[in-house]
Amino acid sequence: MAKTKTIYVCSECGTGNPAWLGRCPHCGEWNSMAQRESGSEERKPAGTTGRATKSVPLVSVIGEEEPRLPVPMVELERVLGGGLVLGSVVLLAGEPGIGKSTLALQLSMFLAAQVGPVLYASGEESARQVALRARRLGPIPENLYILAGPSAEGVVEQIDTLKPVVTVVDSIQSVRLESRPGAAGSMVQVRDSAAHITRAAKEAEMPLILVGHVTKSGAIAGPRVLEHIVDTVLYMEGDRYHAHRILRAVKNRFGSTNEVGVLEMTADGLLEVTNPSEAFLAERLVGAAGSAVAVTMEGTRPILVEVQALTSKAHPEMVRRTANGFDYRRLLLLTAVLSKRAGIPLGNHDVFVNVVGGMTLNEPAVDLALAAAIASSSEDRPLPADMAFIGEIGLSGEVRSVSQVERRVSEAMRLGFKSCMVPRSFGKRYERADGCEIIPVRSLREALKLAGES
Ligand code: TYD
Ligand code: MG
Repeated sequence: MAKTKTIYVCSECGTGNPAWLGRCPHCGEWNSMAQRESGSEERKPAGTTGRATKSVPLVSVIGEEEPRLPVPMVELERVLGGGLVLGSVVLLAGEPGIGKSTLALQLSMFLAAQVGPVLYASGEESARQVALRARRLGPIPENLYILAGPSAEGVVEQIDTLKPVVTVVDSIQSVRLESRPGAAGSMVQVRDSAAHITRAAKEAEMPLILVGHVTKSGAIAGPRVLEHIVDTVLYMEGDRYHAHRILRAVKNRFGSTNEVGVLEMTADGLLEVTNPSEAFLAERLVGAAGSAVAVTMEGTRPILVEVQALTSKAHPEMVRRTANGFDYRRLLLLTAVLSKRAGIPLGNHDVFVNVVGGMTLNEPAVDLALAAAIASSSEDRPLPADMAFIGEIGLSGEVRSVSQVERRVSEAMRLGFKSCMVPRSFGKRYERADGCEIIPVRSLREALKLAGES
């Protein structure tokens, strides 16, 4: 049976709200909230309750945008593809200590203050611990409700009585479905309690946020078994000893999986970083050997990142290669190409590389910067401080073309870089109107030679 429910949707920005508001909590427009019936079968994503028995023309299904609840940060909105879709389930996954609870609580406090009652079910921390954390983050809204140490049944009961506008379960590994055997956190419990709460959330047309822990190797089955149940999977990454956090959508039924959000953990909680390139280059030691600037694309956004290398004479029987934030096998390949094709003697040297700021670079376009940094350390000669490197390196030592060179160059230029080394296929050497020099190179050897001359 299709259940319908009345919601109010802003005609300006599409933000949804269970109650009528004079002013849209998202875009601030007055008198823009119009009533809409929601909950028809067609609007529901696959895998939800009920089953359509009649086929409909596909074109008729495309109606209005999914109504969404506002979220407090543009960076979060970017990865979600907008606000929180009503009735959608978001899995917020990441390693312990990375900041999942902080983000979930900030979101809950925002929605409780702006929209309506929020249920925060905490199986990890006591009500008092959550309250203390919330107090650090700002004034605690009256509409924020905590349910500590809950069972999955308990969460559903509260969804039914409180009728929250959003529910957070922190974490899904810490709740149990009483009617099933097994300890909290076991594969069966994680799957079944998530499914139980998900069903209630879909029926109530309420967004549900499930927090899930993963270990570095992704070993804990927990969140992985949930990926197909939920609509959106957000991974929170970063190095817990550094301030920056990357939010990445690895699955999103309501948006692109191409975008990342950049946040920073501060004493007052998570803040958004709207200018990531600047943040990642902030501590760069200009003029140091072994440092180069790469331009990586994170979704549609180019981000400049400093990469560092250190080479030192190795013990003859134990030559080491260490990669932090970069693929180890790719590092082995780059050092082999540097030795063999560019004459940089690395055979009896240790090579350590590090991507600054806790970012992980897995795009071949950063090869040239990495190789330049290693060569720079090996020769103990700094690279030009205002040069950015863009290009993939092939086994013959050739610099191969990469996507979106223009956008990468523009971002480097915006940050005041005076030259960009790019793959030869990009064109001939020229100076842009904005004063940034484009240096196309065919090979790694040529790139190192030109960088040395600049
Ligand atoms: P937490 O959100 O508890 O991580 P998770 O839920 O993913 O396990 O937070 C992790 C760390 O963040 C914790 O060590 C304390 C720190 N932190 C801050 O630096 N500032 C803050 O405002 C808060 C709330 C936490
Ligand atoms: Mg936590």
